[in-house]
Amino acid sequence: MKKILLFAAFSLVAFLPGHAQKKEILLSTPETSLLLFAPQDGALTLRYFGSRITEAQIPEILSSGLDLDKQAYPVFGTARNEAALVVRHAGGDMSLDVAVEKVEERDEPAAKVVSVTLKDKLYPFRAKVNYRAYKELDVIETWVEISHEEKGNVKLQKAASGYLSFRQGEVWVSHLYGSWGSECTLARERLMPGAKVLSNRDGARNAFTHHPEVMFSLDGAPQENTGRTIGAILCWSGNYELNITTEGPRYHEFYAGIDPIASEYALAPKEVFTTPVLAYTFSEEGLGGVSRNIHRWARKTHIAHGERTRDILLNSWEGVYFKVSQEAMDGMIEDIASLGGELFVMDDGWFGDKYPRDNGKTSLGDWTVAKNKLPNGIGGLIASAEKNGIKFGLWIEPEMTNTESELYEKHPDWIVCPPGRTPICGRGGTQLILDMSNPKVQDFVFGVVDNLMKDNPKIAYMKWDANFSIVNYGSSYLTGDKQSHPYIDYHRGLEKTLQRIRAKYPDLTLQLCASGGGRVNYGLMPYYDEFWTSDDTDAFQRVHIQWGTSYFFPSVAMGSHVSASPNHQTKRVVPIKYRFDVAMSGRLGMEMQPKDMTDAEKEFSKSAIATYKAIRPVVQQGDLYRLISPYDGKPVSSLMYCSADKKQAVMFVYRIKYLLFENMPTFRPAGLDPAKTYRVTELNRVEKTALSFEGKEFPGRFLMEQGFEMSVPGEYGSRVLKFEAVD
Ligand code: GLA
Repeated sequence: MKKILLFAAFSLVAFLPGHAQKKEILLSTPETSLLLFAPQDGALTLRYFGSRITEAQIPEILSSGLDLDKQAYPVFGTARNEAALVVRHAGGDMSLDVAVEKVEERDEPAAKVVSVTLKDKLYPFRAKVNYRAYKELDVIETWVEISHEEKGNVKLQKAASGYLSFRQGEVWVSHLYGSWGSECTLARERLMPGAKVLSNRDGARNAFTHHPEVMFSLDGAPQENTGRTIGAILCWSGNYELNITTEGPRYHEFYAGIDPIASEYALAPKEVFTTPVLAYTFSEEGLGGVSRNIHRWARKTHIAHGERTRDILLNSWEGVYFKVSQEAMDGMIEDIASLGGELFVMDDGWFGDKYPRDNGKTSLGDWTVAKNKLPNGIGGLIASAEKNGIKFGLWIEPEMTNTESELYEKHPDWIVCPPGRTPICGRGGTQLILDMSNPKVQDFVFGVVDNLMKDNPKIAYMKWDANFSIVNYGSSYLTGDKQSHPYIDYHRGLEKTLQRIRAKYPDLTLQLCASGGGRVNYGLMPYYDEFWTSDDTDAFQRVHIQWGTSYFFPSVAMGSHVSASPNHQTKRVVPIKYRFDVAMSGRLGMEMQPKDMTDAEKEFSKSAIATYKAIRPVVQQGDLYRLISPYDGKPVSSLMYCSADKKQAVMFVYRIKYLLFENMPTFRPAGLDPAKTYRVTELNRVEKTALSFEGKEFPGRFLMEQGFEMSVPGEYGSRVLKFEAVD
């Protein structure tokens, strides 16, 4: 049998005869398995999670002789103090003691779902623990549905989506952290005794600071392509807590779910509280294997239109900021069309009638065109885009308002704020966040998209921004027992609204943005085609930001724009080639004033855009192999994408350091077919002399095992190589 992971062990009692219901539940994906043990009236335990096993191997695992009893979903108050579920019953008692009541199985077109209902031994209280194992994707999702029939509300104090324990040894956790302009910085650390907590309490933008996704390397310091590795993703857009507790000598215990702080949930009798999904994956191919599993799952199930390639766009923000006008927009539309782009997106600054939006202080909520700036309205811009053969999109920030807006004048009670308090404002000293728990606000937000689309059905794309947090904790809408719901009900309301939008406008392309990458999470990505990775468009810093982002998010969704030099955020001066080479490793776009480019830069851009079109399917839909990390102190960073049939691959190399007599690593591609022969050509070349191996053919095995040497000239030198299988 392959190497296995035993997270929990064998309890003999559960196997005594007389139990009609099948106790062992084996859930398998193509490469992984999860084994549960669910004896009637007994404890639900998780016996195995790791490489795929067969039914025939179950006795082997169960007779391993280990006698530690690891619950699959531990509850508070009888056997345990650390638990996934903590409640206060209607009568005030805080204890839970649950046992398996029933096991149900159902087939979905792409997955098998098993649900184990746990019932309290004293109260009419149930937690249904669900697992979804995909037939063709190496991901198993878990979530819990909590309900009761007690005589009054039960207060959920903590309701984690899932729990997993794994053996101590040399286990490392890799996770992302950051802030505005430096999203998705990578952190790797060895798990030590104590608790490691990753949480976010922003209320609205949960991917600044930390991220609700982690990887665990079980065989020592994280490696890209080797070592048993678990990936865990909490699919939730609100506050969360990921907690890894290490006590005693045996296990690390991992809990993931909605943050329990200031979120006690009053659950009415017969109401069902469904936790967010927690998705697990396992790979013996290290961090890279986990990323590839997650990317495939995301493209198929958790990103809108994840398997379609994306348009090349120009966004107006860094080009004109708030100075939107018909003339400026027309000029940008013409320019991006002439460079080969396919879509123009008008960013902030286009709306507001009574209060025109000339800066970040006014008008959010007043989604009518500023007639003085755009006399021909949105229709005029769409006509201009159509004339140039491209699509049109625009920016909205529908969950927000400003104190200076017609919306706020009319509905001051629509904001997130405790009644009677003066709200603290965000951006511009005037921005406020609307109360998405209020159905009237949900209708309004739906209407922002719906009205724009009804008036202009040809809008192809919307950038949906969100630039504030929940800081004024409270709601005029939520009353009584529900006043501790804002952090949860905000996101439930947002999701409901997005579901309505998607039902009516399934083909609209939506970009998820929150002051850059503040909302990049899998709670929201199912409704969005892509995300804005960061407001930091400096190509050099983007090498790092995109590297971290790629741990959990695929390139097809990663908005990556070529911007001006010097860069507006870092002031760094970087050549156009490096800027394109970096942006081309994600969803390519531009975000600058094309009019300010030199002729040579325009020429380069045109040719790079044409090149991107040719490699777009590989970059956006291929398997990612991270080769050389920008965190490893080497002179370069490198990554590549391979098509699923391994006939095509594209490799990107970026300078990180530039010193004389440096030790340049050997480039060793990964993910190619060792049995195929590949022709290597350089793309976006600016050097007069071609590489010595330009156009030559090499066996895949040779490339991957032996590798090759290559210079990367200049402080911001970069190279893009294409590998094409020859028959
Ligand atoms: C946020 C976004 C930017 C831009 C501005 C517009 O900061 O992240 O990309 O859209 O808002 O105000």
